[in-house]
Amino acid sequence: MKIVIVGAGRIAWHLGKRLKSKGLPVSQVISRTAENAETLADSLQATWSDSPAEVLPDADWIIIAVRDDAIEEVAKAFAPYVQDTLVTHTSGGTAGAILKPYFERYGVFYPLQSFSLEHTPVWSKIPFCVDAQSDSDVLLLKKIAKTIGNLVYHVTDEQRALLHVAAVFANNFANRCFAIAEKILDEKDLPFELLHPLMEETLAKALQDSPARMQTGPAMRGDVDTVRRHLNLLGDHPDWQEIYRELSENINPDLRS
Ligand SMILES: NC(=O)c1ccc[n+]([C@@H]2O[C@H](COP(=O)([O-])OP(=O)(O)OC[C@H]3O[C@@H](n4cnc5c(N)ncnc54)[C@H](OP(=O)(O)O)[C@@H]3O)[C@@H](O)[C@H]2O)c1
Repeated sequence: MKIVIVGAGRIAWHLGKRLKSKGLPVSQVISRTAENAETLADSLQATWSDSPAEVLPDADWIIIAVRDDAIEEVAKAFAPYVQDTLVTHTSGGTAGAILKPYFERYGVFYPLQSFSLEHTPVWSKIPFCVDAQSDSDVLLLKKIAKTIGNLVYHVTDEQRALLHVAAVFANNFANRCFAIAEKILDEKDLPFELLHPLMEETLAKALQDSPARMQTGPAMRGDVDTVRRHLNLLGDHPDWQEIYRELSENINPDLRS
């Protein structure tokens, strides 16, 4: 398979390395900043370019791995040079249909994990959510995902849009709560490590059972006095107070009255 990666950011680096290590080497890297394209291409022993016009004419699969809001602009730039090649993006929050006006064969190859350059991903634990406009391309993407990972799902645009919302709750919002907890302890000269066992237990239980069933705490118990005391203690931080109130009332709607 001749694979082209467009973009040279976190996903391009990790996916490119993984594909290569599993016998699916990337043939070409194309990215708008020549230096970044060259650095990634060198590490993958691939050719590189900063111009869509130089995309390999016999590419089998083009992976667009650029910022979400640049996907359409990049697709438009490549469209005149691509025929009968499968083109996918890697975004959880962007419809695959965004590629429809530009390519005959299009789809999505979304690894549902948070990637950073400093951490090596544990590929066997990363769900791959794939979709394509034709059944044969869904099969092809599933096959590739199985080669580089272990967990593979066919997820439609409609499903993935909400999957992405759920991921924001499970990852970004949960992490924001951890960050607020860290700051609260910091203001009282307490180490964040104090909360580590509790955080581990919370996650372990949520993975074991339904998190809704595992909910505990003053709001869940309807402990109105404690909730009120906590809100008062957060008086210097109205934004945290607001989050505390909203979440408490969401856990237990009786607290709204
Ligand atoms: N990182 C994650 O955790 C993760 C997880 C799953 C899916 N994804 C998806 O993967 C895609 C790439 O994410 P990433 O984390 O790899 O992003 P990133 O590290 O920020 O890299 C973004 C890449 O997009 C290029 N780019 C930005 N604006 C552009 C434009 N207007 N025209 C052309 N290229 C442009 C950048 O080029 P320059 O080098 O020139 O700046 C860079 O190569 C996104 O769709 C994202 O939603 C990311």
